[in-house]
Amino acid sequence: MKKDTIIILDFGSQYTQLIARRIRELKVYSEIHPYNIKIEKLKELNPSGIILSGGPASVYDKKAPFPDEKIFSLNIPILGLCYGLQIIATLFGGKVSRAESREYGFAILQVKDRKNIFAGLKIQEKVWMSHGDKVKKIPSGFKIIGKTNNSDFAAIADENKKIFGLQFHPEVKHTENGLKIFDNFLKICNVKRNWVPGAYIKETIKDIRETVKGERVLCAVSGGVDSTVTAVLINKAIGNQLVCVFVNNGVLRLNEEKKVLDMFRKIGVKVHYIDASNLFLKKLKGVIDPEKKRKIIGNYFIKVFENYTKKLGKFKFLAQGTLYPDLIESVSVKGPSATIKSHHNVGGLPKKMKLKLIEPLKFLFKDEVRKIGKELKIPDSVLWRQPFPGPGLAVRIIGDITKEKLEILKKADNIIIDEVKKAGYYDKVWQSFGVLLPVKTVGVMGDNRTYENVIAIRAVHSNDGMTAEWVRLPYDLLNTISSRIINEVKGVNRVVYDISNKPPSTIEWE
Ligand code: XMP
Repeated sequence: MKKDTIIILDFGSQYTQLIARRIRELKVYSEIHPYNIKIEKLKELNPSGIILSGGPASVYDKKAPFPDEKIFSLNIPILGLCYGLQIIATLFGGKVSRAESREYGFAILQVKDRKNIFAGLKIQEKVWMSHGDKVKKIPSGFKIIGKTNNSDFAAIADENKKIFGLQFHPEVKHTENGLKIFDNFLKICNVKRNWVPGAYIKETIKDIRETVKGERVLCAVSGGVDSTVTAVLINKAIGNQLVCVFVNNGVLRLNEEKKVLDMFRKIGVKVHYIDASNLFLKKLKGVIDPEKKRKIIGNYFIKVFENYTKKLGKFKFLAQGTLYPDLIESVSVKGPSATIKSHHNVGGLPKKMKLKLIEPLKFLFKDEVRKIGKELKIPDSVLWRQPFPGPGLAVRIIGDITKEKLEILKKADNIIIDEVKKAGYYDKVWQSFGVLLPVKTVGVMGDNRTYENVIAIRAVHSNDGMTAEWVRLPYDLLNTISSRIINEVKGVNRVVYDISNKPPSTIEWE
């Protein structure tokens, strides 16, 4: 797909992906690459502008990361943010050193030059700062276009060369006119605003047809947003050359298989249903170790899928809903949780079945997938469905899994979701669900002593699942959930609320 592109060079900032998303919000395609990308490769990408991200290093460190200096001879606009500004200052003969005090949080930018990159801004602007170094001497050819109390060179520009440096972070929402600044930069880059869902769908359908030709494509669907949008998009491109398969692994939520199949029927995508729940439950019998549970579900998923689809004839491609954040070859440090649990996906399939991958969402962020899904008329209940782990309820029943325990958790979990939705919290939180604990406690019901199970409620806020904060659900809502579970779910006489953050806890209990 030919489109105007802004390249972001990543120096390890936690905000790098945000920069890409802001540019895309302004309808311009952007890609993230490592700071040391070879100049030849960069030229091939033919960017209309470059943004240098922030980063944790200091430019005066021995091993400080620097880009190839030839990027400044490409004759395209360049914007440096935070560490990116300090690189520009250093490379053009200015001076950067440690600031007397770290500047972190809000600052007031005195805008000195309200045109070009600062066109349309007020004289004073609220901006977000996060830095320990600062520019002490401005490089020659540059002028000051903004100051803060703490930084005399908070914004500099060489307008002839179209090189700009900002000490603050316009990509962070706290910088009130951050988007306006990016919009101005894009005007300076003279780019077309053609990164819109309709155009993406049209181009992708064309790409899929050209790649697939007369061959067949296999797609495992789960009812989640990524695999659903993938399936609908490919279905639109090649119709019944696409074969979708939904596997019931026995650890789905209450009536989930029915809901997923109904949804696909409504949007006109044919899906093969494999009910392998008995097989999975047999394999999981007596297994307590969480990692073992995950491995069993992952491995048997591949086996079941392979055996079933063998009967459906030959396939050349496997469709997967891989997203852009999974592909970015970023220098950012990955959070520890990436390796704490072995996440289950269908990663083993393409190799085993000798299939080529087709990943129509691999250039998209999650919010963009939702926009595309909306355009494809996929219902909001799918597009805004909370994440659900591949190993399903198996990692929410602590200890061994039995049919009875599954019944209890399914019913309790359904009440939690139901009440959280009614109270208007479902869309406001990252996840909300129930966990069945392996302990029994004493209770009293009527005149009788009971000795039954405990359900834990878990609800967290998160942006990407890497960190999370427990949600302060209203006491009244917790009370309603608790009463309903204890009254309606046989086998439960106690409900507790999980008030742990990630880290040090994780979102799931196993
Ligand atoms: P944890 O429990 O590691 O979860 O804090 C982070 C996010 O990942 C989801 N999760 C999974 N998703 N397969 C998945 O597709 C898995 O095996 C898996 N384990 C955890 C979890 O629901 C949360 O959103």
